[in-house]
Amino acid sequence: MKKHTPLIVGNWKMNPATLAKAKKLFIDIRNKVQHRPQYTKPVVAPPFPFISEIERLAPSRRIELAAQDVFFESIGAHTGEVSIPMLKSVGVSMVIVGHSERRARGESDEEIYRDVQAVLNAKTTVIICVGEKERDAHGNYFSVVEAQLRAALRDVAAKDLKRVVIAYEPVWAIGTGKTASAEDAHEMKLFIQKLLTDRFSRRAADTVRVLYGGSVNKRNAAELLHVGGVDGFLIGGASLRASEFVHIINTAEEYAKSHPA
Ligand code: 13P
Repeated sequence: MKKHTPLIVGNWKMNPATLAKAKKLFIDIRNKVQHRPQYTKPVVAPPFPFISEIERLAPSRRIELAAQDVFFESIGAHTGEVSIPMLKSVGVSMVIVGHSERRARGESDEEIYRDVQAVLNAKTTVIICVGEKERDAHGNYFSVVEAQLRAALRDVAAKDLKRVVIAYEPVWAIGTGKTASAEDAHEMKLFIQKLLTDRFSRRAADTVRVLYGGSVNKRNAAELLHVGGVDGFLIGGASLRASEFVHIINTAEEYAKSHPA
């Protein structure tokens, strides 16, 4: 299985409350990530109105910028929506699609599929979120993840997989303090890679990072990397605390340094 540079993505969700606080959070993170991480890619996904201001604070791209969502049309009469050309023009290099908090508000597999297409057509990296609402004793959560992946990747060409990241985020683990065990995260990563290998090829599947998200913190990050073998994290709550977020980046940096790609 190919090793990747871990991707450590802070999904700020609808936080912090003001631009001033968002700038402060970013500066705190930036100042703590003193040197350009060599083995890890740190990313933050601020709310839309803050992105271009944050971009001005990140000229060296030591920390990349992601968006939390996108609308698949490029331009036109779509009140309240934000397009991929808009996001690219303010420095966004990755887009999160299909987060469970958006699915819970009615986002359908069809919309997620169109969002994935729009991001890939714009030669930008897409982070596709998948994950079951609950775990049962019969393993039905595998079929939930499989259906979400199949829908999102419909029509995706093997050559575009290098710009695809899958974030496994079990809904029951998000914001609850209940993390999936490292073994469960590992099992799901293998399952996702098998699906990708069957659908595309081993070589194409090897280009895809599988992240874990759901109550990641500075105490569980090392085990999820070492035992879980995940290729990075999508982090909510802990990414709003600069020192904890950077602690996780440093953990991934050390892990990746001793397990080179
Ligand atoms: P928490 O880290 O707060 O559980 O959130 C995870 C998440 O939803 C990241 O996208």
